Amino acid sequence: MMEGDITFELPDGVTVSLESARARRAPEADEFARAVLAGLASRPREIPCRFFYDAVGSELFEEIAKLDEYYPTRVEAGLLEAHREEIAELAGPSRVLIEFGSGSSRKTSLLIGALESIPAYVPIDIASESLKEAAGWLLRQHPGLTIMPLISDFTRTRALPLLARGRRKLGFFSGSTIGNLTHDEARAFLANAARLLGKGSLFLIGVDLKKSLSVLLPAYNDAKGVTAAFNLNLLARINRELGGDFDLSRFAHEAVYNERHGRIEMYLVSLVRQTARVLGNPFAFAEGERIHTENSHKYTVGEFQALASRAGWQPVKAWVDPEQLFSLHLLRL
Ligand code: AVJ
Repeated sequence: MMEGDITFELPDGVTVSLESARARRAPEADEFARAVLAGLASRPREIPCRFFYDAVGSELFEEIAKLDEYYPTRVEAGLLEAHREEIAELAGPSRVLIEFGSGSSRKTSLLIGALESIPAYVPIDIASESLKEAAGWLLRQHPGLTIMPLISDFTRTRALPLLARGRRKLGFFSGSTIGNLTHDEARAFLANAARLLGKGSLFLIGVDLKKSLSVLLPAYNDAKGVTAAFNLNLLARINRELGGDFDLSRFAHEAVYNERHGRIEMYLVSLVRQTARVLGNPFAFAEGERIHTENSHKYTVGEFQALASRAGWQPVKAWVDPEQLFSLHLLRL
């Protein structure tokens, strides 16, 4: 095997695109180091939320998705299940399915089961372990499915595998991951997706709705503390990968709703005055000083459709659950 080559140990029948494997290989460790050093030195301090998803973080997110308080995953899956026939009808046959931030691909299985003759499924994710696991699992659900995983930051994906080119496409972006982006970033992402997917394509996007704080806040402050562990895993990851010496018992998880921006914001709060070291660099924290770790924007159906329109997409339909917790948008180009 070539140095720097990426191999997937998958059951027979899975196609892995080496072409794309080379093009997209990111110096992941370097990137993490650079982002952490720059983010801890800046004011306000921040670490981009994409770094949550190492193997431990990806597993913790799977646990979050099962929590009673965390409705998005469950409600979105319900919407997909309830409307997949209609979605499949609107999509028609033979579209390459491109998923941005595919994670475990669990919800995608519902879609794959409903769609007619998919030439290929292209899951795009930064978590290579999740991609590998997901491809294995999916193949057991859908034998014969052609899977071409792309290890890539979906906000920076510039090209799709050859096999996807010149075919009609259906984009899929689930879980309200788009909420991690600011409105400007979301518009840029949607415009880039338009370029990648091309004329005649469709885009199915799950978007979390604005709602009562009595529902929203517990979703990010669960009683079991799984979200806290997910947030604190960032510091644990710094300790593991960047020779950090963060004392996790001296930081606390915080999630608040920012009305002005319509988003949940997550922070790690220093409980005491302390200094932590990362790759030999000292970072001093005052008591109460925070590191911003995530934004999770919420939209009304109208707000999201307006945003999508500004990126060149036309709203086809939006499905909402009876409790109005979550929305599933179908857009076309
Ligand atoms: C996976 C980005 C959609 O914002 O709700 C869950 C991540 N953060 N709990 C979200 C998350 C805290 C999640 N997304």
